Amino acid sequence: MQKPHVGIIMDGNGRWAQRRGLPRTAGHVEGAKAVNEIVETAARAHVRVLTLYAFSSDNWRRPGAEVTALMGLLRRYLTTETRRCIEQSIRINFIGRRDRLTPSLVRAIEQSEQLTAGCAGMHLRIAVDYSAQHSILEAARLAGMETGVDAARFQELLDQVDHSGAAAGAVDLLIRTGAERRLSDFLLWQSAYAELYFADCMWPDFDAAGFHAALDYYHGRQRRFGQVMAEAAT
Ligand code: FPP
Repeated sequence: MQKPHVGIIMDGNGRWAQRRGLPRTAGHVEGAKAVNEIVETAARAHVRVLTLYAFSSDNWRRPGAEVTALMGLLRRYLTTETRRCIEQSIRINFIGRRDRLTPSLVRAIEQSEQLTAGCAGMHLRIAVDYSAQHSILEAARLAGMETGVDAARFQELLDQVDHSGAAAGAVDLLIRTGAERRLSDFLLWQSAYAELYFADCMWPDFDAAGFHAALDYYHGRQRRFGQVMAEAAT
């Protein structure tokens, strides 16, 4: 089995905080700590691509202070974790729109991407101002300028509009925490055949053991991609 592309919808930071009588932003701070643990765990588990949904295009509708806090955490992540990613040979890319991020955040993103571009280990993609529908529309616009665009070429165009840096391909395992069961405009094209895994814990409580449980679930699945398996065909 080839090394998987794992996508994660990190949901539940706000509820984690509210249940403890803390401001929602405290949940995001704790969520950022969980990001460190899961990135390290995924790299050790030989995940090929890890795509984390950190900020959807719809998240701009949140209160300004919460948006500012989230952008600050992303900035801090780049400052503190880029070196560690280089040490672990993790390549970083931010996927999503960049035209609505502050120029200083875009500079920090580009710097981390350049510094880790040669890293040949896990490809870490952090989705910020990301909307799968928006990406599909943009890729479709590009596809309209070419002839003979097939699904593989369309995927390349998606990676291009997302600033993926390298081919990420289809999602093999899609994890969502936070006890919700929806896709929330995340990697809709890429998840066509993804195995779906829902964890009822809030994102700050998702840890290495939880991640390994999701991977075990994935490895136990028989992936048929629409075909009939040999033993079932008789
Ligand atoms: C969803 O929880 C989570 C987010 C919108 C933000 C995710 C951000 C982080 C985990 C921290 C920063 C990220 C990185 C990569 C350093 P929610 O606020 O919607 O929770 P709720 O459903 O309980 O309200």
